Amino acid sequence: MARPALIVHGGAGPVPEAERGLRQAAVERARDAGWSAISRGALAAAVAAVRHMEDEPLLNAGIGACLNSDGEVELDAGVMEGANLRAGGAACLRDVRHPIDLAVAVMEDGRHVLLAAAGASRFAREHGVQMADPSIFITDRKRQELMQGADTVGAVARDGEGRLAVAVSTGGVKGKLPGRIGDSPIPGAGLYVDDRFGGVCGTGLGEAFIRLGLARLMVVELQHGMDAASVAQGAIDHLTKTLKAPGGAIVIPREGSPCAAFNTPAMPWAMAE
Ligand code: GLY
Repeated sequence: MARPALIVHGGAGPVPEAERGLRQAAVERARDAGWSAISRGALAAAVAAVRHMEDEPLLNAGIGACLNSDGEVELDAGVMEGANLRAGGAACLRDVRHPIDLAVAVMEDGRHVLLAAAGASRFAREHGVQMADPSIFITDRKRQELMQGADTVGAVARDGEGRLAVAVSTGGVKGKLPGRIGDSPIPGAGLYVDDRFGGVCGTGLGEAFIRLGLARLMVVELQHGMDAASVAQGAIDHLTKTLKAPGGAIVIPREGSPCAAFNTPAMPWAMAE
């Protein structure tokens, strides 16, 4: 038997002072939603936490995500299981109500790891994933236009069987070019998990996470025996020194407590174990 654990973050970024408490409370609600699902397994817990955050208008995922350079929302999400290295991602979504649900459907289908844009929407419809009018993702255009940074939401869970899972969802970077895909749906970049070593996910400038292969690197460090706190902090130091990029990371090792690190003014996070 393993000790269950869950860690959830609501994005690393230059969060306005007035919003910090509200974002922290949103992340704690997501932690509670995820923790209440832990008896159904690590995947259920991580997905429940992220799905909750896709409904929180102050977080950059789902409802309330940041806008691209055309003033529209394009969403990415990814999920991975550490037992068998199954992974699924969906990107450039405009009309999928819960991008994390589509990432799970892609993973469970198993033919591909990442679907994008119109093909992803078609797959969603064919697999009974809830669709939405793109306008529902714009809850406060003025606020969404002013959002800064490249925050993301994510969760890592470990269940009582020692299985690990990671889920991530994002609106990406404010003002991004239409069609841009970040790190969040890409295993090895924005998320990675292997039950033998641990699970991680990132938040911050996706281009930097992709260029560094940062999530995979973190799990390799766990594999080599580095402790989770050093892995999280080391990844953020690498991000800062090598590419001067903003970001954060959360980690759950195979055994032991969750950890978080970030180089931005704030990153709301919460955990349970
Ligand atoms: N980390 C979120 C993104 O860059 O898309």
